[in-house]
Amino acid sequence: MQHKQSEGLFERAMDVLVEGCSSASRGPMNYKPFPPYIRKGQGSRVWDVDGNEYIDWQLSFGCLPMGHAHPKIVDVIQREVAGGTHFATALEVEVETAELMVKMLPHVDKVRFANTGTEACMTGVRMARGITGKRKILKFEGHYHGWYDGLLVSSNPQYVTSLGHPNDPVRIPDSSGLTPGSWEDTLVCVWNNVDALERVLRSNGHEIACVVMEGVMSNMGVIPPKPGYLKAVEDLCKAFGVLFYLDETVTGFRLAPGGVAELYGLNPDIVTYGKALGQGFPIAAIAGPDHIMESIEYGKVLHYGSHNAPRLGLFATKTMLEEMSRDNYAGYKKMSEIGDQMTKRLNQAAADTGQNMRVQNIGSMFHPVFTDLDEVTNYRDFCQTVDLAKYAEFSQKMRDQGIFFSGNKILHNLSCTEHTQADIDASIEAAGNALEQMSKKTCG
Ligand SMILES: Cc1ncc(COP(=O)(O)O)c(C=O)c1O
Repeated sequence: MQHKQSEGLFERAMDVLVEGCSSASRGPMNYKPFPPYIRKGQGSRVWDVDGNEYIDWQLSFGCLPMGHAHPKIVDVIQREVAGGTHFATALEVEVETAELMVKMLPHVDKVRFANTGTEACMTGVRMARGITGKRKILKFEGHYHGWYDGLLVSSNPQYVTSLGHPNDPVRIPDSSGLTPGSWEDTLVCVWNNVDALERVLRSNGHEIACVVMEGVMSNMGVIPPKPGYLKAVEDLCKAFGVLFYLDETVTGFRLAPGGVAELYGLNPDIVTYGKALGQGFPIAAIAGPDHIMESIEYGKVLHYGSHNAPRLGLFATKTMLEEMSRDNYAGYKKMSEIGDQMTKRLNQAAADTGQNMRVQNIGSMFHPVFTDLDEVTNYRDFCQTVDLAKYAEFSQKMRDQGIFFSGNKILHNLSCTEHTQADIDASIEAAGNALEQMSKKTCG
């Protein structure tokens, strides 16, 4: 593959953009020595500026359940753009989109639109504090909820020697520039462990406004919840008078029409959505039952935003929801089946080549990690055993063969409704080649 155009763009970019792009994970940290600059996408494919074609399994970090430039999305945007991009007024399409969402989310009475998962999570936490009058929040090691100061604690992988006792995890700030006060009220607990949560709630529940968590740990590869765990968290929250806040930024409108809440039969007090919801446009939402959502009425808990509910993005969201609801939500079933098949066959490719690659998934979210464990069940397993450099090598070898696996070593890969059987077969063949080359190198 030639990368001359990307290389040239990277040189220019380094003069005007930090790390040559607009988020560290897109730059040389994950794509060495420079990232492929992508020019165009269609269906399951993207093309870079050198004309290289890739089957895309990174899919904008999960923002594209219907793939790139889906004809229905292109049609609606082309039609509506001539009517204005954004009014910052109340909109008909806003009402229609919210109606569709509420229909798909039995645990939700009302929604409020925002732009990004980070903003939605920031608002969710503020609502929890406002409603309960309590200051502390509890999050989990390895869970990421965007880059709001109060949630930037213990989200990144760390050396196991930094983590402390599981009963009292060391709270590790994820960034410079945070005031100690910004995370002073953020408690951290180990995930997938009911006893650990019960212990913290028993001693601190009276001060905790909400327990906030991802339903599937999706910023350490893909770590599913243990059977019964999520329901136990919900029950413990109720027992200790703490709000249960489920962050479905990744899982919402992806794993099922009603997300993790539907899959595991949950009734969260606060839910946030993003990513898949906008089908590539920056649309996020905070949602919940009436008695929770009324907290952001004027004069109570503040939530504003010039760009909230952007007209074009809402047309894309509405169209995506309509399309994905067709034939009894067939799109969700299709995405999941593709994710299951990729997982099974990647694991087989690992076994065939003797590589210690394990692929875990929940439906359309899957991720290969290199570890000697049979299963990664929590953040500490991930930090202690997963060989991130090996994933970086594997994903680079995949991209060299035209298969775009995420360069981000701790995120995950995803399927969309547009992946074909031929895409899957080609990707599995490439994985076999990549693992074979890695085995040869390992064997000497
Ligand atoms: C679970 C979760 N919540 C929130 C966010 C933040 O979303 P955004 O990147 O749209 O700000 C992310 C982003 O990866 C996420 O994975």
